[in-house]
Order: sequence, then C-alpha cells, then structure tokens
Amino acid sequence: MRTGPAMMAILALAACVAEEPEVSGRTAFMANCSVCHGADGRGSLANGITMAPAAPDLTMLSANNGGVFPRDFVMSTIDGYSRGTHLRTPMPEFGAGDLGPTVIVENPDGTGTPVPAVLLALSEFIATLQE
Ligand code: HEC
Repeated sequence: MRTGPAMMAILALAACVAEEPEVSGRTAFMANCSVCHGADGRGSLANGITMAPAAPDLTMLSANNGGVFPRDFVMSTIDGYSRGTHLRTPMPEFGAGDLGPTVIVENPDGTGTPVPAVLLALSEFIATLQE
C-alpha cells in the first residue's frame, strides 16, 4: 500500500492523540474554574458579570513569584489544603470531593508526592497561561 497524503494525515493525528494526557487541564479548567476566573484565567467574566471578592488574575502567578510558577501553591489552593487563612473565599474546595487517580510528582529534593492527576493537569494548564 502506498502512503498517500490522507494516510499521512491520519498517522499524524494518531500521534497527537497518543501524546494527549489522560486528564486535560484545559477541559477541567473550562468546566470548573472559568465561571469565576474567566476562560483566559484573567478573571474577566462573560456578560460583564462581577464577583465579590473578584477571582484573582491567574496569568500573573509567576510574575508575582519572582518568575517561578508556584506549582505547589496552585495545587494546594485548588485542593483547598492551603485555605486556612481565608476561609470566607467563595472558591470551592475541590479536594473535598474525590479528585480521582493520583500521579507522583517530584519534589525539589528528589522525593515524590502522590497528587491527583487532575490537580497536576490544572496546574500545568495554568502554567501555560503565565505572562
Ligand atoms: C466560585 C468562584 C471560583 C471558582 C469556581 C474557582 N475559583 Fe479560584 N479563586 C476564587 C477566588 C474568589 C479566589 C481568591 C480568594 C482565594 O485565594 O481563595 C480564588 C483564588 C484562586 C487561586 C489563587 C490565586 C492567587 O493569586 O492567590 C488559584 C490558583 C485559583 N483560584 C485557581 C482555581 C482553579 C484552578 C479553579 C478550578 C478548579 C478555581 N480556582 C475555581 C474564585 C473561584
């Protein structure tokens, strides 16, 4: 069989699908977060809706952290783990429900911590939004 352009396109597509992570951070963000943080993470909501307190701009997290994306802070904020000091936030504590299967993330000291895959995917998606 000759490998024509159509077959090449199908092979390229199959390669893309294979590389797609099991949990899509973008999909999870659009489903759970964009209602408050905006589809762009900037807190600009559709239809001019305002929220009090306003959801922070998620595109400035690295800039506000000396240029380093605060991955663990982001994951623990979503989880609700680090919410001790501002309990009156309207942001839901996503970790209160079952976040599903975990993956191991490597700590700076080389040890590993099991983290729900969806938290990691969300934090990786938010990392791509940084200015
Ligand atoms: C009901 C509205 C609402 C939803 C839904 C929501 N958030 Fe938030 N989020 C907030 C508000 C308000 C704050 C500011 C107060 C706080 O830090 O808890 C915040 C804070 C944050 C912060 C900390 C930002 C900073 O600069 O300190 C991160 C990160 C974040 N949200 C990510 C998410 C992600 C990811 C999701 C979806 C899984 C999500 N949020 C869903 C309202 C929301």
